[in-house]
Amino acid sequence: MATAQLTISPEDLSKVPAGKVRLPEPTILVIFGASGDLTKRKLLPALYHLEQNGLLPREFAIVGVARRPLGNEFAADMRAGILEFGEAKEDDPHLESFVNKVRYFAMNFDDASGYEGLKAELDKIAKEFGIGGNRLFYLATAPEYFTGIIENLGVKGLAKPEHGSVRAVIEKPFGHDLDSARELNRQVNAVFAERQVFRIDHYLGKETVQNIMVFRFANGIFEPVWNRNYIDHVQITAAETLGVEGRGPFYEKAGALRDVVQNHVMELLSLVAMEPPVSFESQSVRLEKLKVWQAIPPIPITNAVRGQYGPGKIPGKNGEVEVIGYRQEERVNPNSGTETYAGVRLEIDNWRWAGVPFYVRAGKRMAKRATEISIQFKQPPLMIFNRNSGGECDIQPNVITMRIQPDEGISLRFGAKVPSTQNVSVCPVTMDFAYDKAFGKSSANGYERLLLDAMLGDQTLFAHRDGVETTWALYTPILEAWAAKTPSTFPNYDAGSWGPASADELLKRDGREWRKL
Ligand code: BG6
Repeated sequence: MATAQLTISPEDLSKVPAGKVRLPEPTILVIFGASGDLTKRKLLPALYHLEQNGLLPREFAIVGVARRPLGNEFAADMRAGILEFGEAKEDDPHLESFVNKVRYFAMNFDDASGYEGLKAELDKIAKEFGIGGNRLFYLATAPEYFTGIIENLGVKGLAKPEHGSVRAVIEKPFGHDLDSARELNRQVNAVFAERQVFRIDHYLGKETVQNIMVFRFANGIFEPVWNRNYIDHVQITAAETLGVEGRGPFYEKAGALRDVVQNHVMELLSLVAMEPPVSFESQSVRLEKLKVWQAIPPIPITNAVRGQYGPGKIPGKNGEVEVIGYRQEERVNPNSGTETYAGVRLEIDNWRWAGVPFYVRAGKRMAKRATEISIQFKQPPLMIFNRNSGGECDIQPNVITMRIQPDEGISLRFGAKVPSTQNVSVCPVTMDFAYDKAFGKSSANGYERLLLDAMLGDQTLFAHRDGVETTWALYTPILEAWAAKTPSTFPNYDAGSWGPASADELLKRDGREWRKL
């Protein structure tokens, strides 16, 4: 097995400005693929929220880059996006000045000459806003354009930090399997030093995800029991009620394992399982996460199950709604073998976790939208209650549940005596922490924090190239085995259910079951 180490050079160590308010330096944010949904729904609302909170530098501009000749329409469209998906009102005093900082540049990503025009345009905008040389390139295009854009940024001298910092944020999917991820890393690192590269996984920007480390390492009472001596097993669920939302062609090539498990779910797993880092600094944190992934032995194909949804009913705003099956979705092969559900049993072969199974699952069109991590503890060695009296409840093991979304919070389940003068009967109860009750509603979507961090050069919440390759190495054999054979049972779960029967079998073999969410 590989030994844990991050490929870093001393200058890769990020230099993050310290201080209470972290304010980036004047920057131009250049978004490639700006006409896509992500920019309008997530990025611009997040940026605007940063602006409202005084967290953007005064000298700042956003340049959307895409093929369509949009001109001023782009800024108007972004304004509409901020109003629809963000937290702004028409008469918001910041809105107009913010929208005035939004520009557009039309070009073909694979046309090398376009980059010269872009460079000139960025220099012009920099002068207009007094920005200097800092550039943050955000690659939000379809993945097939990543390489061409990066290469051209290199060749045309846009990647060189001549008069400031130049950084590149790269959206997922980062590769399609191990070989393509390696190749992409090679191409990226041929142009950008690792310290300039920000591989984004928006889960890492979620408050609840950042809180996993805080829960474990800022409190004294959990860590002593956070190991194989006390924990029976861990479950991670990423369930969505949404289907593929018109992204058929993308999803046909991806599937649940690539789309969510290899990245978002594995990030969650590493945060639950990692050792305490020596500091909350990017290289330390990312090294500890890498060690977890490196300690996972190859996953036997029998420990991975897949499913595809057929028609069914899902919860809607006003009761249940009927939905079509995956194979009937727009631009999906009517005989598709793509999985919309994946469940995997993993182990982590290290001193903390040897023998503790981690069960992870991700699916579309499930019964409920719920992303959560549950840590199930072992039962006490001897149960003296509910023995002869045939108590009212089954005694349940202790569980710590981290609700990543929605209904964000953490709960601890334990047994309590049911009030009675007659006997001692134990029933499960919960201690509950809810974010909204404790702190009020937090509007930050993951992108807000991550955009700010990228502008500041803080890589802590971004994927390192070694981590990406390690998780792809784990899943590539499964993906290959699945690709070799379309399952004859697809579709094998109804939309609005909890996935295929094989997923239940996976836990039943171990005498366990999925938590009912
Ligand atoms: C994206 C996937 O990365 O994450 C989508 O491509 C998925 O298919 C989404 O729906 C889930 O993100 P969130 O933040 O809604 O849980």
